[in-house]
Amino acid sequence: MTTNIEITNISNTADLVKEDRIHKSLYSDPNIFEEELDKVFNNTWVWLAHESEVAEVGSYKTAKIGKQPVVVVRDRKKNIHVMLNRCRHRGATVCEGKKGKTKAFTCPYHGWGYGLDGSLRALPKPEEYENILDKAEFGLVKLRTESYQGMIFATLKDDMEPLEEFLGGAKKWIDLFMKQGGGYPVKAMGDHRFRFPGNWKIQLENTTDAYHFPIVHKSFISSVDEEAQEVFDFLDGDGYVEDLGNGHSVMVMIPELVDLDKNLDEPIPERYAELAKALFDEGHSDAEVRKLVRAVGGSGFNLNLFPNIACSMAFFRNLVPISATETEIHHIAIGGEGAPQAFNQKRMRLHEHFQGPMGFGTPDDGEAWERVQAGSIAGTDGWIMVNRGMSKLSTSEDGNVKGAVCSETGMRAAYQKYKTLMSK
Ligand code: FES
Ligand code: FE2
Repeated sequence: MTTNIEITNISNTADLVKEDRIHKSLYSDPNIFEEELDKVFNNTWVWLAHESEVAEVGSYKTAKIGKQPVVVVRDRKKNIHVMLNRCRHRGATVCEGKKGKTKAFTCPYHGWGYGLDGSLRALPKPEEYENILDKAEFGLVKLRTESYQGMIFATLKDDMEPLEEFLGGAKKWIDLFMKQGGGYPVKAMGDHRFRFPGNWKIQLENTTDAYHFPIVHKSFISSVDEEAQEVFDFLDGDGYVEDLGNGHSVMVMIPELVDLDKNLDEPIPERYAELAKALFDEGHSDAEVRKLVRAVGGSGFNLNLFPNIACSMAFFRNLVPISATETEIHHIAIGGEGAPQAFNQKRMRLHEHFQGPMGFGTPDDGEAWERVQAGSIAGTDGWIMVNRGMSKLSTSEDGNVKGAVCSETGMRAAYQKYKTLMSK
């Protein structure tokens, strides 16, 4: 029998996370949400952009760490900076676009002008600041920024562990994920954004939740050919979920598509025959065509990086918490930089087919997330279960906890990191 507790008896939010369940108030309590901004988002590495989104001098992207607005920009020396999007005069945001290209940032309020590296360059009527303002002290505030495989992260904490240490066991999977450029560097090909009326952790849980796939994604499965249906029928296969430490996890759905540099001599699937022909017609070699065709559908796994970025099979999913009951999602399509047009076009069509706003996948996921939020408030008390597969755990070849593909191992990994951060 499930043991319920009265939420009023709990003084510490971390106590709302047990090994096998979490309390539903974590989805809707505004005070807990504020605590999360402080203890989670403001206290770890947060993913902000892929380097290809700020590829050129002056390219920028605005983003958020928790609720704090930041701007990611490439300066004239091609260095990438992440800076608070806050004018040092009276606090206005200096950049409003989602992304674009600029020569400088000019505050719209009184016109203070900042360079691409954040330095304060000029301000109107400077004589009134004579002897009372040193421009060198009033640049935009730069955050500690580190990248791995083109993934740009920043942190508000100067004493945070190095990014590579934080990523730890996830690095191997990021390396594998980046092979889906088919021999070309991975590049972002644009994003679409939407909000759903639900808590950010409902989305975080979903990335390594294979259990829902045949149920929620019935319409997607019915929209692909028989060969693809077999590929996506992975619940009884050799897939698994692995806890990678620090809240990160990987769900391997299609083991034969883990390393896209392997099995290159397999027959080309019927659904990619047209792409292969187009590539051959363009004069690409047999080896190049095989590599591109193998990579076009993405990797056979979903990698969840705590707290806000999923490398999900063939795209990036970035979550942005808005309130306890609202989350913004950015789906970023990815292709290969300099890859043949036919390859990138096919990737875009596949992205639209599942992840797009009119796709066969994401709208159904969104409906499920919304219903979790709506249903979870019923009753005065209650738990959300994350215990699936707990009695059948094993150890992975990297020495990590490993569960069945449709276990809730990934969710438990994320919540244990969450608990650690919320305990501080
Ligand atoms: Fe930016 Fe005044 S607030 S110039
Ligand atoms: Fe889904």
